[in-house]
Amino acid sequence: MLAYRHAFHAGNHADVLKHTVLTLVLRYMNQKDKSYRVVDTHAGAGGYSLEGRYAQKKGEFEQGIGRLWALDDLPEPVADYVSLVRQFNPKGKLEQYPGSPAFAQMLLRPQDQLRLFELHPTDYRILESYLGTARGVEVKHADGFDGLKGQLPPSSRRGIVLIDPSYEGHGDYARVIATLRDALTRFAEGVYMVWYPQVTKVEAAELPRRLEALAPKGWLHARLTVQELDAQGFGLSGSGVFILNPPYTLHDQLLALLPWLVDTLGQYDGANYLLEQRAA
Ligand SMILES: C[S@@+](CC[C@H](N)C(=O)[O-])C[C@H]1O[C@@H](n2cnc3c(N)ncnc32)[C@H](O)[C@@H]1O
Repeated sequence: MLAYRHAFHAGNHADVLKHTVLTLVLRYMNQKDKSYRVVDTHAGAGGYSLEGRYAQKKGEFEQGIGRLWALDDLPEPVADYVSLVRQFNPKGKLEQYPGSPAFAQMLLRPQDQLRLFELHPTDYRILESYLGTARGVEVKHADGFDGLKGQLPPSSRRGIVLIDPSYEGHGDYARVIATLRDALTRFAEGVYMVWYPQVTKVEAAELPRRLEALAPKGWLHARLTVQELDAQGFGLSGSGVFILNPPYTLHDQLLALLPWLVDTLGQYDGANYLLEQRAA
């Protein structure tokens, strides 16, 4: 059953981390003219109203993009990310939040390709109507874990795969590992970016070490913890991104950035970050 809707969470602290890192990776790929393919295995709707009832229900974006929107002294990578959110809000007011397909589409060049998978029928329909006819883009109403096989390797042998499941049940953690194990046999040099939630589940805690064991040529792991768990010990205290074959520039960019994100997005004194890597 697909109960998860990203519209409830769009623009929260986890999206800020994920989309800032995605922007950095895409900018890095754009330094070479040679084309590349982006595969987003769990694309969501592509864009979200922040004024609608979903986003307003818990107002998660207020503790994410909402804390950055009005600042004018942003560090460079965050300024770049916020400028893309501004591009998505042409009236100059924060009304909508771009999903990962929108960030990719804003940064891709004419020679690049975007492949989007989304299973939820409503989010698929929204995504299809937004990007279905865009140049270089294919939107698929299909399982992204399974669909990735058919996308690898890209003919240019340059590519980024974003794996951003909802982790609704326990199965997604195992599927991330199985999917990556297979993907690496097809396209070992691809850049693979996995997002995961920092929650009290053993699968979430173990995921980074399991990903590390898969990475043949280096990895980077960044985690941002911003809030305390609730009284029952549940909740999303933060999130992480794990990248296999990361751009060599990413570690130092994040080292400059993460302390600032802790200060700006932290909701309690224990807010912190983790940054670790094994270079190729
Ligand atoms: C965390 S959201 C994606 C957010 C999006 N990547 C972004 O950053 O804007 C996860 C999405 O995956 C979809 N989904 C769940 N299981 C899926 C599967 N097996 N294949 C493709 N999409 C799936 C959900 O409907 C949901 O829209």
